[in-house]
Amino acid sequence: MTRQDAILEKPELSQAGAADVLAQRVSPATVIRRDEPLAKHTTLRVGGPAQVYVEPASEPDLAAVLASCQERGWRFFVLGRGSNLLVKDGGFPGVVICLAHAHFSRIEVAGERLNCGAGGKLKAVAVEAKRNSLAGLEFLEGIPGSVGGALRMNAGAMGCAMLDVVESVRLMSFDGEVQERPARELAATYRNCQTLRTHLALGAVLRGQPGSREIIEQRMNEYSRKRWTSQPAAPSAGCIFKNPPAIPAGKLIDELGLKGTRVGGAVVSAEHGNFIVNSGAATARDILDLIEIVRQRVRATCGIELETEVEIVGE
Ligand code: EPU
Repeated sequence: MTRQDAILEKPELSQAGAADVLAQRVSPATVIRRDEPLAKHTTLRVGGPAQVYVEPASEPDLAAVLASCQERGWRFFVLGRGSNLLVKDGGFPGVVICLAHAHFSRIEVAGERLNCGAGGKLKAVAVEAKRNSLAGLEFLEGIPGSVGGALRMNAGAMGCAMLDVVESVRLMSFDGEVQERPARELAATYRNCQTLRTHLALGAVLRGQPGSREIIEQRMNEYSRKRWTSQPAAPSAGCIFKNPPAIPAGKLIDELGLKGTRVGGAVVSAEHGNFIVNSGAATARDILDLIEIVRQRVRATCGIELETEVEIVGE
């Protein structure tokens, strides 16, 4: 066998082949699509296609997808609601797993607890908590993400973070093993949950405190007003950078006069310095170049190394 043959025989993902292999291993209720445009699955609205896109209909189907990826060495990543995600223009050369199927999207209230699937929307969780007079989850109202994505990123707003309101998490290891773990056992830090880099979140039990529905509603309205007056409405991925310890990234970028800086269709928001918005026809390249310009200016002027908060995937 020549070296070239060996390369050709590597278990690389061929679009049709991979979709067929997966279709044989999962139930018909699982959605499998080839060449799925990922731009429409992200709030930034940029990025190329996923070679294979899967919405598993059950935990066994999800485990079967993971097993195929492991056995054949296919790359995969788990997509939430795409609100903290930048997919490169070449797309993702692997399997994108999205827990958007109804099976993973439940939000069930029992007393002070909300049992939520990873695909549930955070806004729906906040609304359900309010409906049941449960306080403490109002901050989830304006985060345009899923429960799974928020766990993975330990998403936060208004001084609160996801893992602060979670009692336990249902996880699947990449080998398909399911376990329930108390939230305190998960390695959660500011905008990260390390355990969820080696496991998938299937769902979580969130806990609220009994409260007055009127006060909960007032708090949600106040948060919403704060967000609409300080953050842009144009397509974005929320904050692009994590806040460095010394100063909020948005304030720093604002003070350096970088608002309005543009590369192609990507612009540093005039409303909030830590947002890059897609003004219409941005590409992922435009956004990546703009991120680099901002990082370089901040490094050169203040010696601060900005770290991206947004997840960057693809080629
Ligand atoms: N500021 C400016 N100019 C700007 C932006 C902000 O001077 O252009 C100042 C503000 O006036 C304020 C300070 O910087 O004094 C902090 O700003 P803000 O209250 O907007 O909070 P942030 O630290 O920039 C964080 C989260 C947001 C979350 C808001 C509101 C991070 C990286 N960002 O932003 O989360 O919505 O608090 O609670 O932690 C996200 O993670 O994607 C995100 C949007």
